[in-house]
Amino acid sequence: MKIGVFDSGVGGLTVMAALLRHVPAADYVYLGDTARLPYGSKSQATIARYAVSSARFLAEEGAEFLVIACNTASALALDAIKDAVRVPVLGVIETGANAALAHSQTQDALVIATDATVQSHAYERACAERGLRALEKACPLLVPLVEEGWIEHPVTLEVLRIYLSELMDEAVAKNLNADTLVLGCTHYPLLRSQIQRAIPDLRVIDSAEATAMQVAAALGDRAGGGAGLRRFYATDSVDKFRRLGSRFLGEEIAGVELVDLGG
Ligand code: DGL
Repeated sequence: MKIGVFDSGVGGLTVMAALLRHVPAADYVYLGDTARLPYGSKSQATIARYAVSSARFLAEEGAEFLVIACNTASALALDAIKDAVRVPVLGVIETGANAALAHSQTQDALVIATDATVQSHAYERACAERGLRALEKACPLLVPLVEEGWIEHPVTLEVLRIYLSELMDEAVAKNLNADTLVLGCTHYPLLRSQIQRAIPDLRVIDSAEATAMQVAAALGDRAGGGAGLRRFYATDSVDKFRRLGSRFLGEEIAGVELVDLGG
């Protein structure tokens, strides 16, 4: 079984890392649409156009199952992607909401994500379908800070502190008794321990593990039989992808191929 993993950039490699742990026997082809990143500040029509061309590329590369690791694409383009390809497609919003449901005792959750994801209210809807209340907050400065590698930088810690204290104040104002914070963006797992330190009373969860476990359950024995293939594509600088991507994946990425998906 060949699994295609798609993200707007390198962040989805956090999902790929979880997939490699939970579904190690599959072959993988990963596409980071780095030339058109960030998706999180763009309109729904643009995000859908970019995501559909990326998904089609992965299907043409032989992917038999697609994981949309990008929260923004999952929130705004999942239906468009499903319409465009003939293979099963799994996004990360539903799995993130499932993880929130599994961990929250109070049934109140907080979600941090990109602007576009928050404006779509995809997490709020997915949580409501599961009987959870969710308060979402856009944290647009975090993606560029992580891309810069400023994980422990004082600027990042201060930005985080401001975002999280605003979120907590809003939660109190709305009478939410949240015990769970969902990391609704591919880049945020790299800041997980910094976030957890800032809000020690909340359980911080990301959808990567939950997504990988759902893929393992969906594919069962069909996941096996691969040759251990790991192929990485980027739509912009392959050197930058390799350098940054190794940090997200947690291991060295040997080769990255450049692909042109148009504008
Ligand atoms: N991959 C995006 C997400 O998970 C973050 C980066 C971007 O804005 O493109 O929402």
